Amino acid sequence: MRAIKSAAVTAALAIAVGFGAFGSEARAAGEAPEPPSQDWTFNGVFGTFDKAAAQRGLQVYMEVCSTCHSLDLVAYRNLADLGFNEDEVKAIAARYVVTDGPDENGEMFERPGLPADSFVGPFPNEQAARAANGGALPPDLSLITKAREGGADYVYSFLLGFGEPPEDATLLPGQYWNEYYPGHAVAMPDILMEGGVEFADGTPATVENQAWAVTNFLAWAAQPELEERKQMGVKVVLFLIVFSGMMYAVKRKVWADLH
Ligand code: HEC
Repeated sequence: MRAIKSAAVTAALAIAVGFGAFGSEARAAGEAPEPPSQDWTFNGVFGTFDKAAAQRGLQVYMEVCSTCHSLDLVAYRNLADLGFNEDEVKAIAARYVVTDGPDENGEMFERPGLPADSFVGPFPNEQAARAANGGALPPDLSLITKAREGGADYVYSFLLGFGEPPEDATLLPGQYWNEYYPGHAVAMPDILMEGGVEFADGTPATVENQAWAVTNFLAWAAQPELEERKQMGVKVVLFLIVFSGMMYAVKRKVWADLH
């Protein structure tokens, strides 16, 4: 009897965990509201990236975020996916200084970035990154839209979520109030400014447009294979439909002959 009971409890627990019953409690404890869901072009079965927005987002990343955040998993040549041609990729890479080596004398040396290099980060190591940010570590942004609950919706809301702290909020020096950050006290300042960048394609550089663009860019960075995966999914489903039709025809034929 006991064994049956504990099995039932275990099953109930497994179901609760499966349905995320505990996940929503964790969110409640963080006191941050759920970020509103946005109409991303990469949502849904036929989703594709908005390449123009992602290109603008690259600009926001390079001009604003890259002073603090690395992007280790993206190589400059990956930017070809976003519609940059070879010369443009070379030019972007060449804006960075890469430490390479050792040379034949055992010395490290510096050279301009090449398309095969990964994005050069702002700091040589974690300690330097923390020292420059009051002890907090700006996370690498390569996978950030996958790493946070709420994904791109969260990153977008987070970037726009800075504001005046409520009366009862306690912020330590170097902390800022953010509506969507779990616990609200974050060590990143409100960084996006109206007109903080000048978009090459003439899109007005409002704070919202910059947040939108950089989130599109980061969503692409986190899953560059998304479009291919979705196209493959559609092809598989189409194949299955055609295949089922064929099998049905075969079945009818076989049974017709038997009768
Ligand atoms: C002045 C340095 C600085 C700049 C510039 C900066 N950040 Fe941050 N960012 C930080 C720090 C520090 C943290 C870690 C905060 C913490 O742990 O409290 C952080 C955290 C984050 C997080 C993670 C939040 C979470 O839920 O953990 C995201 C997303 C983020 N930054 C995105 C960006 C984007 C996008 C830009 C450019 C628009 C940017 N940041 C510019 C310093 C910076």
